[in-house]
Amino acid sequence: MANRATDPMDKLVSLCKQRGYIFQSSEIYGGTGSVWDYGPLGVELQRNVKEAWWRSMVHERDDIEGMDAAILMHPRVWEASGHVAGFTDPLIECGSCHRRFRADHPDVANGQCPVCGTKDTFGEPRQFNLMFKTFMGPVEEDASVVYLRPETAQGSYVNFQNVATSARQRIPFGIAQIGKAFRNEITPGNFIFRTREFEQMEMQYFVEPGTDEEWFEYWKARRMEWVISLGIRPEKLRFHEHGPDELAHYAKAAFDIEYEFPFGWHEFEGVHNRTDFDLRRHQEFSGKKLEYVDQMDRDKRFLPFVIETAVGVGRTVLAALADAYREEEVEGESRTVLALHPRLAPIKVAVLPLVKKDGMPELADNIHAALRKAGIPSFHDASGSIGRRYRRQDEAGTPFAITVDGQSTEDGTVTVRDRDTLAQERIAADAVVTWLRERVG
Ligand code: GAP
Repeated sequence: MANRATDPMDKLVSLCKQRGYIFQSSEIYGGTGSVWDYGPLGVELQRNVKEAWWRSMVHERDDIEGMDAAILMHPRVWEASGHVAGFTDPLIECGSCHRRFRADHPDVANGQCPVCGTKDTFGEPRQFNLMFKTFMGPVEEDASVVYLRPETAQGSYVNFQNVATSARQRIPFGIAQIGKAFRNEITPGNFIFRTREFEQMEMQYFVEPGTDEEWFEYWKARRMEWVISLGIRPEKLRFHEHGPDELAHYAKAAFDIEYEFPFGWHEFEGVHNRTDFDLRRHQEFSGKKLEYVDQMDRDKRFLPFVIETAVGVGRTVLAALADAYREEEVEGESRTVLALHPRLAPIKVAVLPLVKKDGMPELADNIHAALRKAGIPSFHDASGSIGRRYRRQDEAGTPFAITVDGQSTEDGTVTVRDRDTLAQERIAADAVVTWLRERVG
């Protein structure tokens, strides 16, 4: 692919579009601000990220239950959570073009509107709530206002007792959710880094007060391990501790896991000690007791503290893509490669007949069908030179390519090419499924 962009993010955005990872939403209408669609490869990468998270949080553990709460919740939830009063950004408006900007945006610090250039016409900062509002039912009035949730966490808090009782969990235990969240961000941008519609993978771990700091350290370590298990280079990851002025209204302590994106170090996951803030507030606002009573020792009752781990699917996808993107010289030619971990790669293997004759396409078809049947995402490509076909798969992030050549039809062997090392190995065609299973899981 001829990529004329020079900025690393522009190159990544362009590759993502060309290879079917990510498209701008409603592109034929000029696009929707900071909303993106995942194409055929993007949706697979996203699913692989979510599956890796669900597996490590829910399937591999006895102490975490999954759930899926609705996006629309009772509006009082957001009063109790503090989002109606406090989930705001300070905004100032240009008196000339009436565009609005974050008051702390560096471009407006000198009093000049970054859009129309007029000076000193900004009004006083006003608090702008980031929650999207809509109406439930046919009447558009204040009494029917509901919000699109800005985080999945509240669905876990309001269901804390339902889950504990139905799953017979004793503290410490957690509730994990993957789901959409919405924020009317004022300064979205950097591709899928900050968007108005996004997906979160959040886990709320309920613990006995007094043990919270220990669990906080435990979860910090587990989360960093998980990110590294996705193949993201450890030297591009670090923790950032929130200072008192950065802490969210609910948090006693918070650490971000940051990745060094092409536009700098930024958060892609947060680990928060939310104390008993949320359960206490829901108890107060709903009038329902949310105390935990230990079934083995009924004198042991308390309002649990919560350690939260919260990560965006889109940000994890972006970190994985940015980390995997390479431009290099191989065999005297330059190539662009997405060196995605095989676990995350949307297509695990490409099956390529060297030429479209002498029984090669038929054998390639059989191998492709066997891989599909075994549940290994495979792509059959017979068009163009073999070099071009390899490059296309390198750009798509496919870790292995199987070539069916003249020898294959004689002795039933094929070559397997490794995307990263370019090493080629000859293996029996009927051993391909086992060979790949060992490498891609
Ligand atoms: N429940 C806590 C919570 O929502 P957060 O730090 O506001 O905490 C958690 O969000 C994660 O969700 C972030 O680390 C980020 O990965 C993702 N996220 C938040 N806002 C986002 C946005 N506008 N676009 C994309 N991802 C976002």
